Amino acid sequence: MAKIAMLGSGFIAGFYTQALQAYRNRDEVIVVYGRDEKNLQRFSTQYQVPNFSTDMAETINAYDVDLVVVGLPNHLHLEAIRLCAEAGKGVLCTKPLGRNAGEAKEILGIVEKAGIFHGYLEDLAYTPKTLKALESVQNGAIGKVTWARSRETHPGPHSDWFWNIELAGGGAIVDLACHCIEIGRNYIGKDIRPVEVMCWADTLVKPIAAEDNAIGLVKYATGAIAQFEVSWSFRGGLDLRDEVAGTDGTLWINNFLRTGFDMFSAPGRGGYVSEKAETESGWIFPVGDENIELGYLHMFRDMINCFETGQAPMETFYDGYVVNAIMDACYASVKSKQWEPVELSVWRGKEKVEPIMELKDYNDQYYLVKEEKLPDGSIKTILKDKVTGEFKQEHMFS
Ligand SMILES: NC(=O)c1ccc[n+]([C@@H]2O[C@H](COP(=O)([O-])OP(=O)(O)OC[C@H]3O[C@@H](n4cnc5c(N)ncnc54)[C@H](O)[C@@H]3O)[C@@H](O)[C@H]2O)c1
Repeated sequence: MAKIAMLGSGFIAGFYTQALQAYRNRDEVIVVYGRDEKNLQRFSTQYQVPNFSTDMAETINAYDVDLVVVGLPNHLHLEAIRLCAEAGKGVLCTKPLGRNAGEAKEILGIVEKAGIFHGYLEDLAYTPKTLKALESVQNGAIGKVTWARSRETHPGPHSDWFWNIELAGGGAIVDLACHCIEIGRNYIGKDIRPVEVMCWADTLVKPIAAEDNAIGLVKYATGAIAQFEVSWSFRGGLDLRDEVAGTDGTLWINNFLRTGFDMFSAPGRGGYVSEKAETESGWIFPVGDENIELGYLHMFRDMINCFETGQAPMETFYDGYVVNAIMDACYASVKSKQWEPVELSVWRGKEKVEPIMELKDYNDQYYLVKEEKLPDGSIKTILKDKVTGEFKQEHMFS
C-alpha cells in the first residue's frame, strides 16, 4: 500500500486520483495540495482525500507520505521535485518533465543524486491498445519499425497557464508532442538514439506567442522516422491516433474518437461525453472509461508496483529528459528551417545500431526486391543482380 500526496487539484490531479483509487484500491491519496482552498475542499470531498493544504512543502513533509505525484503546471515541476528530493520521497511527475531540456536535466540530476524513486507519467504509452501493440512490435510482429506516426489534436487546453509561453515553456509542441514523441520512441526502441529533427510550427488561429499547430519528423540512428502532428485548434474533440509501419507489418490505433462507440442524439446526451468533446448532441463519440482508455490505470499499476519492488518503471525521468531534448531540437528547427541535431549530453542507449535494410537472397546471383501477384493471377518477381546492381523481373504465368 502506498500513501500518496497529490500536488495539484486541477484537471490531471482528478484523473490521477481516480486512477489511484481504482485497480489498486489499497493505495491512498492522503493529502492534496493546491492554491485555492475552495477548490481543495471540493476535491477532498469528491475524492475522499482526508487532508488538504495550500503549502507545497508542508504537503510533502507533514504527512506520512511515501510517494508524491506532481500534477502541477509545467513551471512548478522543478520546484516540486526539488522539495521531494529534499524530503527523500519517491516522486512521479506528469508530462512534460521540464519546460526545456535544461530544466529536465536539472530535475534528473536532482532525483538521481538524492537516490529517490522516480517515474514519468506518460499515460499514452500505457493505453491498453498501446501496451498490446508494443508487445507485438517487441515480439517482431511487424518486423523492423521504419516509421511511427502519432497524432494528438484538440481545440486547445483548459487552463490559463497553458497559454502563457513562460509558464508552459511552449505551445502545442510542449503540451502535446511530448506524448507523440514518447509513443514514437517506444515503437522505434528507446535504446535507439534520436539523431535529428525537422519541424514546422506556426501560430495559425490563437492570439498567443507560442505555436498552436506543428508537425515534426524525428530521425533515429537506424534511419527510422517518428512523425508527430499536434494542434490546439483542431475542431471536433480529442483526436489521438497512431500508425506504425514495419518491414513485416503495420498497425493502426485510434485511442479516442471513433473507437467503436458512436452515438447520435438529437436532444443531446445531457452530460459529459469525453475529454475535449465539443458537443453533446448530433453524432458523438463517448468514451467508456477514460481512466482505462487513456492509460492512467495501467500507468499507476506499473509505477507503484515498481516503487514497491525497487525496479525502474517503463517510463522514468530519463525518458522525460530525452523527450525534452527532442522538443528543444524541434524549436531550433522551426527557427532555422533545417534538420537540427538532438543534443543529448546524457545518452544511455546503444552507441551502434544495425541499419533497417536487409538484403534478401533470391539465389546465388540475385537479391529479392519484391514479389507481387497481378490481377491476371501471374506473379512478378523483381530481382537485383548482386554484382552489377541491375534490376530485372521474372514474370510467371500459371
Ligand atoms: N494526459 C496527461 O498526461 C496530462 C493531461 C493534462 C495535463 N497534464 C499535465 O498536468 C499538469 C497540470 O495540468 P492541469 O491540466 O491539471 O492544470 P490545471 O490548471 O487544471 O490544474 C493546476 C493545479 O495546479 C495548482 N497550482 C498551484 N500553483 C499554481 C500556479 N502558480 N498557477 C496555476 N496553477 C497552480 C492549481 O491550484 C491546480 O490545482 C501540467 O504539467 C500538464 O502538462 C497532463
